[in-house]
Amino acid sequence: MVMTTDTPLASPASHAAPADTGHRSDDRIILVDKLKMAYGDRVIAEDISFSVGRGEVFVIMGGSGSGKSTLLRHLIGLQAPAAGSVRYVDAHGAQDFWAADEDGRTRLKRRFGVLFQSGALWSSLTLAENVGLPLEEFTELTPAEIAEVVEFKLALVGLAGFGDYYPSEISGGMKKRAGLARAMALDPDILFFDEPSAGLDPLSSQRLDELILQLRDSLGASIVMVTHELASIFAVADQAIFLDADRKRLTAWGPPRELLEGGPEQVRRFLARGN
Ligand SMILES: Nc1ncnc2c1ncn2[C@@H]1O[C@H](COP(=O)(O)OP(=O)(O)OP(=O)(O)O)[C@@H](O)[C@H]1O
Ligand SMILES: [Mg+2]
Repeated sequence: MVMTTDTPLASPASHAAPADTGHRSDDRIILVDKLKMAYGDRVIAEDISFSVGRGEVFVIMGGSGSGKSTLLRHLIGLQAPAAGSVRYVDAHGAQDFWAADEDGRTRLKRRFGVLFQSGALWSSLTLAENVGLPLEEFTELTPAEIAEVVEFKLALVGLAGFGDYYPSEISGGMKKRAGLARAMALDPDILFFDEPSAGLDPLSSQRLDELILQLRDSLGASIVMVTHELASIFAVADQAIFLDADRKRLTAWGPPRELLEGGPEQVRRFLARGN
């Protein structure tokens, strides 16, 4: 069952919405409409509407516990909305993940590459085995073909020749990059990262930001990323949203620099930390 729409979700009228970015509906890749997120009776946030543009780096901001990881779980089909919808646009229109049948959901999931907040690699597997795992699980490729793809993905994140290393033998930054390589194993068109630079020193964190932009530019992938690191937000985000834990609402959506200038006060303070 596929639902279609031609209507892109407008950005919020208030709160430093981006100036007309010239986006047409086919520039959108994810449409989130009046999403309500809850664990049982406990509402985390509601009335969340935004859309992610194709090829965009889209950052989810908010205080601890505001629901950033929960929103990511909704975007990758791990958690069903308590209300509202999450739809993904392709050549045939916009598909609602939870309205799709099992095949439809599997097809959608194949489009996603995910790096979770814990970001953990399997410690008992080499980097090559870690990156190859999704290929073994989801494709019919032969071991030789998998090895070739794996080597290519590792090279893409600057880890050529490290396939035989175990996670315990490499640095934190390298582990994150191996995690990115794994997220990209199936050539996803949307990458989801939850706090990718958490626990990294500033230099490794900066390198990771550069890599993220490089992946966006070379692969044309859209990237949805949770981060609270200011340097990262300003370095990589085309668009950002802010989840307000107290109001349980999305309170801002726009390019970070515009939000810093003209966003709601809480968001301006969030973005001006350390200045
Ligand atoms: N499985 C769960 N069951 C019940 N409540 C949960 C569950 N996971 C998260 N929560 C609650 O939902 C709220 C949002 O959690 P979430 O992890 O999405 O926040 P976050 O913005 O990612 O926080 P952080 O910055 O600490 O990663 C928190 O109050 C959390 O306690
Ligand atoms: Mg989180």
